[in-house]
Amino acid sequence: EKGGYDHFMLKEIYEQPSVIKDTYRGRLHANEGIVQMAGVEDNIEKFLNAKRILIVACGTSWHAGLVAEYIFEEFTRIPVEVEYASEFRYRNPIINKDDIVIAISQSGETADTMAAIKLAKENGAFVFGVCNVVGSSISRESHAGAYTHAGPEIGVASTKAFTTQITVLTMIALRLGKAKGTLSNTDFHTFLQELEIIPEKVAEALETNERSKEIAAAFKDAPNCLYLGRGYNFPVALEGALKLKEISYIHAEGYPAAEMKHGPIALIDEQMPVIVIAPKQGHYDKIVSNIQEIKSRSGKIIAVVTKGDTQVRELADYVIEIPETSDALSPLITTIPLQLLSYHIAVMRGCNVDQPRNLAKSVTVE
Ligand code: M6R
Repeated sequence: EKGGYDHFMLKEIYEQPSVIKDTYRGRLHANEGIVQMAGVEDNIEKFLNAKRILIVACGTSWHAGLVAEYIFEEFTRIPVEVEYASEFRYRNPIINKDDIVIAISQSGETADTMAAIKLAKENGAFVFGVCNVVGSSISRESHAGAYTHAGPEIGVASTKAFTTQITVLTMIALRLGKAKGTLSNTDFHTFLQELEIIPEKVAEALETNERSKEIAAAFKDAPNCLYLGRGYNFPVALEGALKLKEISYIHAEGYPAAEMKHGPIALIDEQMPVIVIAPKQGHYDKIVSNIQEIKSRSGKIIAVVTKGDTQVRELADYVIEIPETSDALSPLITTIPLQLLSYHIAVMRGCNVDQPRNLAKSVTVE
């Protein structure tokens, strides 16, 4: 049942190239310049007239929501807010009739997310669900939605659900950006082509497995860890840190790289591993200077870089090379080595990777 892998988590990490394809199959036709999902097409006017998009979710799904915020605002210029479902529901939130609420949930059973969409519906908002489990409560409670088609995710630590959620949300943003004219025709077509070949790049990123294992061996006893990223990769830093905490019980924090100097830099010494997401596209020079700041305080730098990078390589203690892609799609690639790194660290520490202590696969209590 684990398909020859030692753990479900590893199997699910390796399934990503094929499940991302399942996610866009029948929806994305790069050569024809088409991206469509029934749930979006049936409600296209609502989407195009939306004054605001509110995203509600928990945990890893909330991180996918943050990535989507960057993508939606860039492609569609619709203002997006991302909220923890648990905060949203208890704070008398402002919800308008022409708001679209997108609920993201792998299981479709998370109690807080469910309560958030009920509240949104009571206030007249249109609710769109992005769920993995077909027929789940949140998918049934939503007005419309799009499934991620990632297949069953057994490992408590979410992996393939995250990348397929981002895939669905990217497709929605592309569809709306094209219709609104906020995304140029050239960019639209380029992104479609790029998204179509993303599974191959994810497969290539999986080839860093051995490298991640070596790095894991060097840092498995660290008591703390920092993850830094900027722009589209800031949420990936949060997700990398969550993954490490959940399965290895190492305390980890994710930060936008530029925030480091506002506090966390005080933590840096020669014991502190800092994982920096530093692809060539997007804020590269800024991230290089962040790396210099860490280096001058003797932090241990593990950098995720674009293949062929030389500048970061000179500064970092370890680099993990990933294939190049556009900034907006990079989270689908940069997240892969971070999943592998957490996985190997947890295995080396003898942790129960698939069933970490104190955690349940779906949180149906409030
Ligand atoms: O099923 P959901 O996507 O609604 O679950 C949300 C969170 O409980 C979930 O992402 C949790 O944070 C995972 N353990 C993360 O790996």
